[in-house]
Amino acid sequence: MLAFALGFVSLCCTLLVAPVGAVRLPDAYDVSWTTQSNNSAGSMPLGGGDIGLNVWSENDTILFYIAKSGTFDENNSMLKLGRVRLNLDPNPFAAGTFRQTLKLNDGFVLFEGAGNATMKIWVDVFNPVIHVELHAAQDVMLNAAYESWRTSDRVMNLRGNNRAEQEQSSWSFNNATTYADATTFHNGGVRMTHHNLDTTVFDFTVAQQHLAEYKETMYNPLASNTFGLWMYSPDLAPANITEGRYVNTTFKAWNLRSKAAKSSYNLQIVAGQAQGSTESFQSTLDTVAKSAGNNTQAATIAWWHSFWDRSYIIINEDAGPNDGAFQVGKNYQIFRYMQGCNAFSAWPLRFNGGLWTFDPVFVNPDAAFTPDYRRWTGGTFTAQNQRLVYWPLLKSGDFDLMKPQFDYYARITSNAQLRGRVYWGINATVFTEQMDNYGLPSPKEYNGAEELEGAGPRPDSFPVGMEYNTWLEHLQDTANEFVDMILQANMFTGLDVSPYLDFIENQIMWFDLFYQQQHRRADPFALTGWNYASDSGNGSLVIYPGSGAETYKVAYNPSSTISGLRKIVNDLLQVAPAYTKGNQSYFENLLLRIPETPLRFQQGKPCISPAQGYSRIQNTEIPQLYPVFPWGEFGLGMPNLTFATNTYELDTETQDFHGNKGWNQDVIWLARMGLTTQAANYTLDRWSDSTIYRFPVFKGPNYDWSPDINHFGAASIALQEMLLQTFADSNKQIRLLGAWPEDWNVRFKLHAPMNTTVEGSVKGGEWEELVVEPEGRKVDVVFGQK
Ligand SMILES: *[C@@H]1O[C@H](CO)[C@@H](O)[C@H](O)[C@H]1NC(C)=O
Ligand SMILES: *[C@@H]1O[C@H](CO)[C@@H](O)[C@H](O)[C@H]1NC(C)=O
Ligand SMILES: *[C@@H]1O[C@H](CO)[C@@H](O)[C@H](O)[C@H]1NC(C)=O
Ligand SMILES: *[C@@H]1O[C@H](CO)[C@@H](O)[C@H](O)[C@H]1NC(C)=O
Ligand SMILES: *[C@@H]1O[C@H](CO)[C@@H](O)[C@H](O)[C@H]1NC(C)=O
Ligand SMILES: *[C@@H]1O[C@H](CO)[C@@H](O)[C@H](O)[C@H]1NC(C)=O
Ligand SMILES: *[C@@H]1O[C@H](CO)[C@@H](O)[C@H](O)[C@H]1NC(C)=O
Ligand SMILES: *[C@@H]1O[C@H](CO)[C@@H](O)[C@H](O)[C@H]1NC(C)=O
Ligand SMILES: *[C@@H]1O[C@H](CO)[C@@H](O)[C@H](O)[C@H]1NC(C)=O
Ligand SMILES: *[C@@H]1O[C@H](CO)[C@@H](O)[C@H](O)[C@H]1NC(C)=O
Ligand SMILES: *[C@@H]1O[C@H](CO)[C@@H](O)[C@H](O)[C@H]1NC(C)=O
Ligand SMILES: *[C@@H]1O[C@H](CO)[C@@H](O)[C@H](O)[C@H]1NC(C)=O
Repeated sequence: MLAFALGFVSLCCTLLVAPVGAVRLPDAYDVSWTTQSNNSAGSMPLGGGDIGLNVWSENDTILFYIAKSGTFDENNSMLKLGRVRLNLDPNPFAAGTFRQTLKLNDGFVLFEGAGNATMKIWVDVFNPVIHVELHAAQDVMLNAAYESWRTSDRVMNLRGNNRAEQEQSSWSFNNATTYADATTFHNGGVRMTHHNLDTTVFDFTVAQQHLAEYKETMYNPLASNTFGLWMYSPDLAPANITEGRYVNTTFKAWNLRSKAAKSSYNLQIVAGQAQGSTESFQSTLDTVAKSAGNNTQAATIAWWHSFWDRSYIIINEDAGPNDGAFQVGKNYQIFRYMQGCNAFSAWPLRFNGGLWTFDPVFVNPDAAFTPDYRRWTGGTFTAQNQRLVYWPLLKSGDFDLMKPQFDYYARITSNAQLRGRVYWGINATVFTEQMDNYGLPSPKEYNGAEELEGAGPRPDSFPVGMEYNTWLEHLQDTANEFVDMILQANMFTGLDVSPYLDFIENQIMWFDLFYQQQHRRADPFALTGWNYASDSGNGSLVIYPGSGAETYKVAYNPSSTISGLRKIVNDLLQVAPAYTKGNQSYFENLLLRIPETPLRFQQGKPCISPAQGYSRIQNTEIPQLYPVFPWGEFGLGMPNLTFATNTYELDTETQDFHGNKGWNQDVIWLARMGLTTQAANYTLDRWSDSTIYRFPVFKGPNYDWSPDINHFGAASIALQEMLLQTFADSNKQIRLLGAWPEDWNVRFKLHAPMNTTVEGSVKGGEWEELVVEPEGRKVDVVFGQK
């Protein structure tokens, strides 16, 4: 690693060149197919704004599913807007003359066919409109069908051996009903509207959780939620309505057909979602539709170019598509494209499928359900999984993409405050795991005992407001990571944290107020940490009963909670002492009262302990390594790194919990601990082209669902950490190539705290270029593992 340091020294004085123009991703990163797909599982993702499409060709037709964020129905399923099928006659895109390409740099899908025919499908980043543009060498007839499987009310009662249909909603036992959409020909096109009733699963949940008297004042995103689309082409006219079956689901098709054969067509689909009346929704749709035909792709392409310019990691670009490290760089970029498709959303990109789920039987043969199905619901935002999707957006400088996740917490803060006040008389927020989009535990998890082995029905003595669930009880710290992301977004880019301060301070204060209350119920002597000999106490907090992730239950001082509290209070004091609503001294004092991260011996060596005590082990996370990531208490450049590596290698309880898929964090920990060989090995495996689905970054279901978004979120974090680490020295240190294999050539641009960007290129183990801006930050740069 010395070579890197020397290289830098010589560069800093001679070769420091300004970054050259806009980056262009290698054309070889485009995903291109010359044969059609077998079914929807062989689709490729497309999107923009907050719309996602799965695009594929099958039996000489071109099809796409449409998803949009916020499309929650009464039962908290996230419904697709439908499916579009394009038939051409004669068909230039028939087998033999066929190519389908995701044009990554410009963000669209291109079909190429006989006679140089092209069909471009793109989604406007700034307006909720999907565009289809067809140019053929000869005149063709086009039939564009809007296909819907929600044509009558549907009771979700299908069951496979392992999966039940209502898992797509916030219900697990009842036979919930998905209501039909209203779909009609309208104004020369076809219009679909789904309008939720005022009464939804929200009302059930509020009553179940003893909050009915506060209902009118509570934030409720489901009542009257309305969504739909209008599909239209000046060249097509409404024809008949037909019926069919695709995979496991029957559907109706509203056909728009050519008025006369033509060589070029424009088709637009205007999508929308808002809470309110059907009338106001439809009139908004009409307004967007009026200008849709005037929107050109130029602005959208310019946005994608600026998006690529913010950040990139391009590896072994000359090595070709079969090189493992080439695939790492390529697929990292493609996954970042998928994240970019949700840039202007009101809702976070979901960990379990994002905007790109497809017919579920191709994920699990027991799930022969409609295309609306995904496991772990459309409306429950599982924080432990969501966080992995959002952490990597700091170093890629995608702060605008983080806003949906931050705003989500800002919106649900008032409901979580209500929980604290009503159940415990505490003025602070209680966020939970498996939390629905209005900040309350999902009803199926709140009383989860019916489904859980080893637990009977909820006893009256179990605290009201606490999830009665063997995984989830007392798991209250999952929001800490989003607190820290907001604080770090301020460090990285100066994000204004004031809209989130209520969330941040309430989340931190919960642990102080709630655990003091708990302690006083158990111990008449209020001062903790009493030492008989010195006749004094340090007043340190006792976090009991707590939970080390979902794994160490009824835990005493779990290290994941303690290490996290220390980090977020430190970061709050660093970022915004002037912001603190309470006062700075309150948080300074709290910092002193957070206990030490517990240690224990394993196989004779000091290790991080999951907690000072616990009753049982329920899941397979390894929360004793959360002090490494996300909390940065142990790692390269920090003291006692061996405690972490010992924990990884020697902790006897968790050896079976290690893994490299879904939300497993091993690959991140390996990078942070500087275990380069293993980190690189796991990174190659994470990012290798999918062998499960046709699209290279469609993998899964792992623990969640396909495409598995948090699998690649974790992989993105790890790849960035191999290149750049910024947690040491109170977020000041910039460590480059801390876990980077010497034989991976790389070109990259990443972001760091204090408005810093780092742009560099390493070839054959030597720096070719390194630009740190602002220049004053160069003194904080360290190389390799020193
Ligand atoms: C279609 O399915 C067949 C049989 O499973 C498989 O061999 C082939 O690779 C698939 N084609 C594509 C394009 O995925
Ligand atoms: C297709 O485009 C190529 C290159 O522009 C041109 O040489 C060729 O004649 C075109 N073919 C047809 C059938 O238009
Ligand atoms: C749900 O529907 C199934 C099939 O119709 C029926 O057997 C079952 O009893 C229903 N369950 C409930 C809770 O209503
Ligand atoms: C699903 O939503 C509908 C509409 O609000 C409601 O009537 C129904 O009770 C909900 N749950 C079930 C189990 O059907
Ligand atoms: C719909 O229209 C097409 C084209 O005119 C025709 O071939 C087809 O039979 C019609 N189907 C029905 C169910 O009317
Ligand atoms: C393609 O043809 C197969 C076999 O007839 C059928 O099962 C499948 O549903 C068709 N696909 C589409 C998109 O219609
Ligand atoms: C669902 O679709 C798959 C794939 O087409 C098929 O193999 C399976 O038999 C279908 N199952 C049901 C219950 O329709
Ligand atoms: C384009 O914009 C003009 C002016 O706003 C409007 O009158 C016209 O209808 C629009 N054209 C299309 C195709 O949407
Ligand atoms: C909670 O806050 C409210 C309003 O700020 C205040 O009236 C109340 O006394 C506080 N309750 C507790 C327990 O601190
Ligand atoms: C390293 O661990 C030892 C033993 O627990 C402890 O005494 C020491 O303070 C730690 N060093 C730092 C800098 O945390
Ligand atoms: C590389 O990772 C694979 C799993 O992807 C694992 O089986 C193998 O042991 C690892 N090899 C090394 C050298 O770490
Ligand atoms: C970062 O930039 C923002 C916006 O330009 C500015 O408000 C903030 O003070 C800067 N922070 C640092 C540490 O330079």
